Amino acid sequence: MRILITGANGRLGGQLVQQLQHQHTITGIDLEATDSVLAVNITDKGAVDQVFDHVQPEMVLHCAALTNVDYCAENPDAALNSNAFGTQLIALACQRHEATLLYVSTNEVFDGSAKQPYLEYDRPQPANAYGYSKWVGEQVVRDLVAKHYIVRPSWLFAHGGHNFVQTILRLAAAGKSLRVVTNEIACPTYNNDLVTAIEQLIATECYGIYHLVNEGATSRYAFARQVLDLAGDSDVALEPISLAEYGRASRPPEYGALRNMAAARLGITLRPWQEALTAFMAVEGLLVS
Ligand SMILES: NC(=O)c1ccc[n+]([C@@H]2O[C@H](COP(=O)([O-])OP(=O)(O)OC[C@H]3O[C@@H](n4cnc5c(N)ncnc54)[C@H](OP(=O)(O)O)[C@@H]3O)[C@@H](O)[C@H]2O)c1
Repeated sequence: MRILITGANGRLGGQLVQQLQHQHTITGIDLEATDSVLAVNITDKGAVDQVFDHVQPEMVLHCAALTNVDYCAENPDAALNSNAFGTQLIALACQRHEATLLYVSTNEVFDGSAKQPYLEYDRPQPANAYGYSKWVGEQVVRDLVAKHYIVRPSWLFAHGGHNFVQTILRLAAAGKSLRVVTNEIACPTYNNDLVTAIEQLIATECYGIYHLVNEGATSRYAFARQVLDLAGDSDVALEPISLAEYGRASRPPEYGALRNMAAARLGITLRPWQEALTAFMAVEGLLVS
């Protein structure tokens, strides 16, 4: 299949390129060109239309986004420009080419007031600028492209990129004090597991909304504790703090846990996050034996 992947220099887009290129004809696009990635700004209609005319994709995996949630909070128009308008241009081009579109959204489309994990069918109510822009993206995809998947992950940890796991270990190694939030809860998700699940999902042609996260939910605090324990740093102290004490521009959902119900019905499940974290850290050489 001819597949166009947006955000191909990013954590998820980059790994999708790596994994799918053996089975499919892949073109990656991103803001910056590399040897294998074309420079296309998804908010530039001429550039988007041109790359679609050139590639003639049968499927588009749309991972490009402004993902810095604090920057989005301070620059809500920029968030909408990339995540909503850019997605609109991608969706319109898919419509014109009758291409299937898989849009990567986020758990931050929910406000976090739930008491149990959100289902695919729950009503989004974003509480911050990033979540709002991604939710607008979901709506343009639903409105414009008949054959679409909307995939919502959360708290990705990926090889080669900056993420929570590496940040915790770096601060611990530097002897910095570690203040970690106890009342922000979600599902840590291993980028490689998400890529495998997406690969399985696009083979089903069962279009719709999917929560693709490693199983189980945890707080930032307990996640950090698990990382330190696996790395043999159990003696490193963590100071529990609340979201309110952790000054940042964006307010994440307090309870952003997702439940994979729809994909599980298709036989697509992701292992528990603790197992995924152990596998990730083993590959990174961070596990104590
Ligand atoms: N990471 C997470 O924890 C997480 C959780 C839930 C959902 N998601 C969603 O998953 C998707 C992939 O996330 P990720 O972690 O792989 O993100 P990422 O590493 O930040 O990659 C996104 C890529 O898109 C590029 N991009 C931004 N604006 C663009 C534009 N206008 N035109 C073309 N390319 C553009 C970025 O370039 P620059 O780096 O130069 O800006 C970056 O290379 C995103 O849609 C995100 O919303 C991520």
